[in-house]
Amino acid sequence: MRIVCYFPPNKDCKPWLDALRSRIRSPASVEAWQPDSPAADYAVVWRPSQAFFDSQPCLRAIFVAGAGVDAVLSLRLPIGVPVLRLEDAGMASQMTEYVVHAVLRHFRQFDAYAEQAAAGCWRERPLRLRSEYPVGLMGYGVLGQAAARALQVLDFDVHAWTRTPRDSAALRVYCGADSLTDFLRATRILVCMLPLTPDTEGIICRDTLEQLHSGSYLINLARGAHVVESDLLAALDTGHLLGATLDVCRDEPAAPDHPFWRHPKITLTPHIAGTTLCAESVEQIADNIDALERGIPARGYVDPRRGY
Ligand code: NAP
Ligand code: GLV
Repeated sequence: MRIVCYFPPNKDCKPWLDALRSRIRSPASVEAWQPDSPAADYAVVWRPSQAFFDSQPCLRAIFVAGAGVDAVLSLRLPIGVPVLRLEDAGMASQMTEYVVHAVLRHFRQFDAYAEQAAAGCWRERPLRLRSEYPVGLMGYGVLGQAAARALQVLDFDVHAWTRTPRDSAALRVYCGADSLTDFLRATRILVCMLPLTPDTEGIICRDTLEQLHSGSYLINLARGAHVVESDLLAALDTGHLLGATLDVCRDEPAAPDHPFWRHPKITLTPHIAGTTLCAESVEQIADNIDALERGIPARGYVDPRRGY
């Protein structure tokens, strides 16, 4: 069995090669891709190039070393080859930390208190009530569900928006484009944990932002292209939106002069909300390779038609 790995130049491939070599059960050669690499059976990739797929005609499965598959599905892939992504693999707790931190920082006004502290000002601000800060999660998948559970432990009123209907005893789930308005009207803190697909690109735009409560807050830790950046800046300027915490940007890395960096109402982090963990990821990928070799069900199959 041959396994070929493709990682962008800024990501160290060696720990992945070592971990895969020690974890794969069947005899296997595991190598980093070169343009003249021999045809492999399985690919483990993060942000691969078209040249990679064009040079690999015999793949039996493509493993994406992340939760989001937009960068892979945007390429011309070998026909009929399944794409499998990571489910959680240590990202759910990190994404949850990010969401909880951003929600609490806004809700408990820690930025305003930090400003007061810098000015030596001991002053209590008006208390905010949880009942006035309902949290709406766009996307209630593997990662969204983990964040929802943590927010509910903190007694936040949480609801979610999905593509397909679901019964949930845990919270109210709005489903489909027809229910987006109701979902947004019920939301004061909007958290985006959607996959990037043709349906979700640009979904956080003037029209959606206007439907939120006045004085809302945005947290986007999915993909930058969900947000129409000029519409976000306009909503912040009018005061309709009080602020935003963003882990992602339409063009990454954000240029040093990107307006988000220095905007007083925006906190921007460099796509670190859920970092891929090598050991946990390789464990899941190796189990999946083992399952495919034995003809038993693997996990994390992507449906290319729906785009996630
Ligand atoms: P997932 O399990 O596939 O869940 C996706 C959720 O989005 C599902 O609830 C799905 O609805 C919903 N959805 C998809 N298209 C929709 C649409 N058109 N309308 C309404 N809801 C829609 O994905 P995940 O593992 O939770 O990951 C979510 C995303 O997080 C990834 O795709 C990735 O882009 C991002 N991410 C970011 C980082 C980071 O570091 N910033 C790290 C990891 C992941 P259904 O339930 O109906 O299918
Ligand atoms: C990171 O952004 C991921 O999709 O895993």
